[in-house]
Amino acid sequence: MADHTLAAQVMQRIETLASFSEEPDRLTRRYGTDALREAYAVLEGWMQAAGMTTRRDNLGNRIGRYEAAQPGAKTLLLGSHVDSVRDAGKYDGPLGVLIALAAVERLHASGKRLPFAIEVVAFADEEGLRFSSSFLCSKAVAGSFEPAMLRLTDGDGITVADAIRDFGGDPDAIDQDAYDADSLLGYCEVHIEQGPLLESLELPVGIVTAIQCQDRSTVSFSGMAGHAGTVPMNLRHDALCAAAEFVLAVESLGREITGLVATVGQVAALPGASNVIPGRVTLSLDVRHADDAQCRHASALLRERAEVICAAREIALDWQHLHTTPAVQCSPVLMELLAQAVDALGQPVYRLASGAGHDAAILSAITPIAMLFVRCKGGISHNPAESVTDADVGVALDVLSRSLELLAEKGAAL
Ligand code: GLV
Ligand code: MN
Ligand code: MN
Repeated sequence: MADHTLAAQVMQRIETLASFSEEPDRLTRRYGTDALREAYAVLEGWMQAAGMTTRRDNLGNRIGRYEAAQPGAKTLLLGSHVDSVRDAGKYDGPLGVLIALAAVERLHASGKRLPFAIEVVAFADEEGLRFSSSFLCSKAVAGSFEPAMLRLTDGDGITVADAIRDFGGDPDAIDQDAYDADSLLGYCEVHIEQGPLLESLELPVGIVTAIQCQDRSTVSFSGMAGHAGTVPMNLRHDALCAAAEFVLAVESLGREITGLVATVGQVAALPGASNVIPGRVTLSLDVRHADDAQCRHASALLRERAEVICAAREIALDWQHLHTTPAVQCSPVLMELLAQAVDALGQPVYRLASGAGHDAAILSAITPIAMLFVRCKGGISHNPAESVTDADVGVALDVLSRSLELLAEKGAAL
């Protein structure tokens, strides 16, 4: 298929996947839902049409395999995720899966086999929306899935273990899904940039150098619920006022420390009535920095800040640390391959770090990783306004295809 036709097909498929949502008027696709099941059913058909055999693992990740020219060869992993945030854009995740699929389709159409097998992995839980988890699914394939994760619960009290069973997997057999690191050549993920740099430089693609550290916690403030009309202001223990002070402390630390970003993205105030003083507030905290130590330090500073706020207001604080995903570096060898491919296509080579987290960060524990970013309109993501152009998708696809050829040319060095 000609390049523009394949790029147009990627864009059509983006629309198709975006139609599988839990909510009628917006795109929300959490782990283990019917929307994800439906997206996978269609995706498997596309994988098979591109000459791949398909399988699923216990978490439900879908994997399409395109065999190597010779048996016993190593495997290159390509892919991204197909779950989404709430009220998501269409491209965060699916674009990387579909461009990988198109690159394989191009090989299949020309009857080409490479000296390595390719597996396209469509991960089922990168955003962590349902369980406030992160990277459940890439952790399974990287062998870093911790049994404690099975006990996390969603908003309805359903555990990860039950959701896995309901999604057709066996939570007791997850350790069998880990790749043998020796069988892998690397993992390459194409993804929208989710930031404004490429657009400001008028570049269609960029090569990722590193993925920054992220640290997440759930923070609860417990005060005293009471009557909004009768409890005098000086006798209140308003949990939401303490939480509000904390939210502003998060913002000011984010502004103070160079390179730090810190976000409270979810707030739940209980009991939640206009005439009741909030007795309990639970919020999410997401702290990120390119440097692991700075990231942890910022999180510790915020905890101290919360303690001071709560002591002054006689509010009880509960701080649950969820996880830290350390910063990772991309493979110099794979970055160089991508750079050669970008250059061969007559595009300027530009390198940038990723502020967002990606499954690639988890895969880096077992295999060299690389990422190619695609320019997105206004740098907007985690928002239905996410947008990319057909032309940029075409460039990203050509870069990926050329990188596969370059990797094949390395031959004996693989
Ligand atoms: C994933 O999108 C993240 O960076 O939170
Ligand atoms: Mn995302
Ligand atoms: Mn993503």
